Order: sequence, then structure tokens, then C-alpha cells
Amino acid sequence: MFQDVSKSIETCAAFYGDDAQAMKQYLIEGQQRAISLPNRGPIKFDGNGAIHGDILEAYSTYGFYIFENILNETELKDLADDLESLRENFPTEMGATTDASGRPALGVDNKAMTLQWAKPLSDPLGGTAIANGRHQVKLFEPQPGVDAPQATPFYLAGSLQFSLACLRTYGHPGLLKMAEAINGKDFTPFHEGLFIKYAGLGAAVSWHQDGDTHWDNPDAGQDSHGFNFMGQVYGSTAVNGVWVVPGSHKQGRLDIVKMVADAGSERLPDAVPIICNPGDVVINNRQLLHGSFANTGFETRVTVNFGFHRRSSVLNVLGAGIHADAATFDEEFITQRSRVIGMAIAARQQRFPDEVPYEYAPDADERDPLIWRDDMQASLKDYNLMDLSI
Ligand SMILES: [Fe+2]
Repeated sequence: MFQDVSKSIETCAAFYGDDAQAMKQYLIEGQQRAISLPNRGPIKFDGNGAIHGDILEAYSTYGFYIFENILNETELKDLADDLESLRENFPTEMGATTDASGRPALGVDNKAMTLQWAKPLSDPLGGTAIANGRHQVKLFEPQPGVDAPQATPFYLAGSLQFSLACLRTYGHPGLLKMAEAINGKDFTPFHEGLFIKYAGLGAAVSWHQDGDTHWDNPDAGQDSHGFNFMGQVYGSTAVNGVWVVPGSHKQGRLDIVKMVADAGSERLPDAVPIICNPGDVVINNRQLLHGSFANTGFETRVTVNFGFHRRSSVLNVLGAGIHADAATFDEEFITQRSRVIGMAIAARQQRFPDEVPYEYAPDADERDPLIWRDDMQASLKDYNLMDLSI
């Protein structure tokens, strides 16, 4: 049912020196705990066409849910093909302005954040002040091979302007139904990107919770910082995947330094890896404690990441300034940023004409349904300057 990654587990553990045996055991036991959780399955609806209550209950309990096999084969191939073309257009090295064919590289004339690089197998965020210091501890940094590059692509922000396949996945009707179930019919965008975790090179992301703005808000609850969908193009494993502490989204802001000290290592005992096959999409509460280790294994992970918020979490709120410069999100700002939802639905409808498209309630008054044309994608340039960062 899941790919066998025992070779990667062995190889990964060997990087950890004296902790090799402990790491191996952690990966194997985490994998077993993850698979035994009752929070995965195909998307299911009730008699009214709403997301089935069992799914909502499991998501609420654990803070994440895995929609198995929700991206069809055509969609997965489109995503993989787009990832290949994006990769061919990446700068030849960090700071370069052309790609390997001499073309202007992806993102060179963008104002907004685009491609981010990291030193192979490093933990670039852990223990730093980046993102308001949310990554409180630094994870172990395995030593990369002598032939490893100085830096490797790590994250591509604003992905919908670069990949039509990602834009179409953003308009997935089942996933948007889930967004509606969690955040209400007038849900809003958040931010989109691609996490790139190359086999043998991919950097770590230290333990953290994503939210920033509402921790001290007395009216806030477990859904106040929204969620991310994480679509898996090649699958996700104990070695290359995100690990989460189930249920931690209900516990407020956590003292991660203390948790690591109490555990005696960075291997938090209650955490589990998110294990997915290609085509699975995870919904992950942003308040859930999560992180990922350096990818010392043989499988590359690329995650198609896109999140949504409750309108009440962003309306007239001063943004955190993490994904884009801080701004106060008034109605007009939100309406403009939300335009991408209608575009995604239209782009998807053109590619999958037999599918019943999602109807986004805030666009219900539009006189004519939007018909997608490929030249519309250019209008998304730098759209992520308006990310709803909270
Ligand atoms: Fe995160």
C-alpha cells in the first residue's frame, strides 16, 4: 500500500552518528504510528453534497487528514511535467539570472518572493529570527556528500503564476468543498508555494507552528490561522515528509525548546510522519506543531502547497508580514487577492470539462462565468505580493 523506504531509513540513520540507532527506531516507529491513525481515506460527502462528518471530526481531532488518491493521473502528470519545466528554468545557481539554456531564469524580474535556496541538508530556519522566530530550535544538519552543490532550490513562492497545473489543482472542487467546510463559504486565500526536497540534498524545516497573528486573541480557536493543503506529486515518507504532533493545534503556542529538552532530543516522541502516495493531498492545520528532517534518503518530495483562511481571521487584520509585506487586509484587498480562486476554477474547467466545478460564493454575483484563456496567467505576475499572511 505504501512504498517501502527501508533503504532510505537505513541510509538516513547512518548520517546521525551516535544517534543512528535512535533515529532508525524513531523513523520506523513513527511510520507505524502514522499508518495506524484513523485520519485518511478517499474524499467522502454526505447526502447534501457536503464533506462527510467523519472527515471533519478526524481533522478536528488530529489537526490533519489525508485525502487519498484525490488527484487523478492526468492531473498528476500535468503537475510532474510542469515541475520539470520549472526546474529547467531555475537559475543555474543561487543569484544567477539565466537558466541552463541561457534564458532569463524563473523569477528574475519579479518583485515578490519567488525561488528560495538552501545549503544541502541544512536547517536554514531553525534557531533564527526568520518568520518572527517561529522555528525555536535548530535541527541536526547531516554532512552532505563532497560533490553536493553549494545551495539547492528549496521553496518556490507564488507558484500559481508559474504553473498552470498548480493553478488547476488550486481549483479542485473537492478540496474547495473542504475549504468551505472548515472556513465557511466566504473563505479566502492565504499563500501558495512548492516545497522541493531533493533526494540526498533537501533541507530540513525545524519544528514550528505556522500561525502568527491570533495566538493572543481571546476569541481565537483551533482554526484561526487557517490550514494548508499539501498535494504530493511523488509521495511523502518518514524520511522526506513533514512530521506533525497530532492534536497540538488545540494547545496554543507551544514551548518547543522545552519540548525538545524534555524529550532529550529533537525526536519529539508523539510526532508522526505524514505518509502519502503520489496523488494524495493532506489538509494540515497551521497551528499543528510540525517540521521535517533533512532528506538524506533516496526519494525526492515535492509538495504542492496552498492554504485558505476564514474571512474573519483576515478582514481588517494587519498581516504578519512573513509571506508578503505587512498590510491591513480590507474588503477590497481580499477581493482582489481572491480573484485567483475564480481563475483557478475556470482554468480547471477547461482542462477537465466533465467535472462539476466548485462555485465560490463571493463570485456568485458575477454576470458571466469566467472562461479561461492561457494568456490570463500573465496577470498573476507578482500576485503573491498580496498574500494574506497571518
Ligand atoms: Fe510550516
